Amino acid sequence: MHDASVFRSIHVARFHAEPAVFVAPGRVNLIGEHTDYAEGFVMPAAINFATLAGISPRDDGQVVVYSENYGEKKTFSATAPPPKGTGHWSDYPMGVAAILAGEGHTIPAFSLSLWGDVPLGSGLSSSAAVEVATALALLSLIGAEYPGPALARLCQRAENEFVGASCGIMDQFISVNGRENHALLLDCRDLSFKLAPIPANVALVIANTMVKHSVAGGDYKTRRAESEAACAVIAGHRAGVRFLRDATLDDLERWGHEMAPKSLLRARHIISENLRTVAAEEALCNGDLKKLGRLMAEAHLSYSRDFEASCEEADAMVELAQNLPGLIGARLTGGGFGGCTVNLVEQSCAQAFAQALGKGYAERVGIEPQIHICQASGGAHLLE
Ligand code: GLA
Repeated sequence: MHDASVFRSIHVARFHAEPAVFVAPGRVNLIGEHTDYAEGFVMPAAINFATLAGISPRDDGQVVVYSENYGEKKTFSATAPPPKGTGHWSDYPMGVAAILAGEGHTIPAFSLSLWGDVPLGSGLSSSAAVEVATALALLSLIGAEYPGPALARLCQRAENEFVGASCGIMDQFISVNGRENHALLLDCRDLSFKLAPIPANVALVIANTMVKHSVAGGDYKTRRAESEAACAVIAGHRAGVRFLRDATLDDLERWGHEMAPKSLLRARHIISENLRTVAAEEALCNGDLKKLGRLMAEAHLSYSRDFEASCEEADAMVELAQNLPGLIGARLTGGGFGGCTVNLVEQSCAQAFAQALGKGYAERVGIEPQIHICQASGGAHLLE
């Protein structure tokens, strides 16, 4: 999928220097949505869609970033980079440079080429893949190393502080720490994780509704604010509750009436989603695929009804999947409001499932979807 030699030659033709090339994957989240910033649980897997970042040093004091996807290059001064993003694709690599500079690193002059096949705005973490690939590239040039969790945190800060998107840690964490054929149950409180093997007879079918989503957009922020307002009400009664991770459904019974109705619904989603996510990891590890599928179905309903983060198209994609042979579980994945559904499907049925789902969706919704049969992949690394 990623032809590194073609990518290298693109960098050499443009910058007349051999690059060091790094790859960072996108991700699909099996379950645990909008729980990461509430210090809860998520269970994503890295996938075989990724961003490549090629880097070489320059001697003219400039930082030049080039995107093969956009066919566009931007030039900055290495010593006076922009303080904030401007809503341009270059915000993601420059945000990483800015955070590293803030950490006390001297940013050298460099040329950076980027190319990726993670579908943009589809809820598969194309931005995290760009951040992580850039961070590894820049750190190699600087001659510094960060342990996995710290690297993920640095990239998340680039997105929070420079790009201005209030995302949690999930996407960057899994892009750094993904494992082949595994999902990962991540505790977003202390960043400890458990690997959950995805059985060989289970396929990851990712179905793109083709409805664009954006984490930088208003809906993500509103949902986060609504759920944090609910948490503040509980915290007012129960010391020790700092995040919805610390809250229970009982708390909602007792103090839900003090919350705005939307806040109560958002909190109910997050609190119940944490329970489902931990249970889903157990089900996956015990080979209880029926239970896993049921939890995914409940998660989708909760995401759609309580969190109101789905859309007609995604609901249709999930509903159509229910009637197809081989389905284990289906739900909308990622930040919401469009993007992709994740379908766990019996491997032997995956091809037929993908075809039938695509056909059914096109007929029902009038949009030609993109459907991919993906593999759970390893995390970001240097390409030799
Ligand atoms: C986006 C964010 C993540 C997470 C998900 C929702 O992908 O980047 O941090 O909040 O949405 O689960």
